[in-house]
Amino acid sequence: MSFCVAVLLSGSGSNLQSLIDATQAGKLDVDIRLVLSNKPDAYGLERARKAGIPTAVVSHTDFSSREEYDTEMVRIIREHQAEAVIMAGFMRIITPVLLNAFPNKVLNIHPALLPSFPGVHGQGDAADHGVRFSGCTVHFVDAKMDNGPIIIQAVVPAFNKDDGESLGARILRLEHRIYPQAVQWLAQGRLEIQGRKVVVLDAGNQPSVCDDGQGAYMVNPPLEDF
Ligand code: GRF
Repeated sequence: MSFCVAVLLSGSGSNLQSLIDATQAGKLDVDIRLVLSNKPDAYGLERARKAGIPTAVVSHTDFSSREEYDTEMVRIIREHQAEAVIMAGFMRIITPVLLNAFPNKVLNIHPALLPSFPGVHGQGDAADHGVRFSGCTVHFVDAKMDNGPIIIQAVVPAFNKDDGESLGARILRLEHRIYPQAVQWLAQGRLEIQGRKVVVLDAGNQPSVCDDGQGAYMVNPPLEDF
């Protein structure tokens, strides 16, 4: 039986699409049981419907506290028998109510090399800072925003002419590679948290170093079949 996940999102859902595509390609052994959004007009909901995945909208404006909101999310996620929660552009701070319901089973992707440039403008903040490299990070979620143990990172160059949009596009392409990989490791039970560090069991010990014609990038731990 496949590992069952729920995906939380608020917007376009291109990361959801990368998970759907990897599943349909037979590379990712998960069953996406639910896509839940806090925004009724999130395009990610449309992507889910097209893929035949059940959707739910839980509007935060209907709840008086973050804890009440998360309690309702937990109820719906459990109703769909998901055992892990994949945050893919979900623009809400979650509370221990959700974290404790799915211990060490909540993942997030962030469009910068954490712990640099946390927050909602990671790509623009990195570009404005004049960094020479940026990238993306998949991490376990803990009670602090963009803080939990790091599973995988991808690195791309940043150039003086970059703004948040151009750098963000370069990063997003790699998000679509590393998120399915990290979720596959979770599904395979290959992630062990040791304090701040994550051990990926049986992973290669040298990063993927690539230039596929669209630009150079590096991924660590190395990508397997993604
Ligand atoms: C991505 O950049 C992700 O890193 C961040 O939110 C964005 C979501 O994009 N957390 P999409 O909705 O998956 O296209």
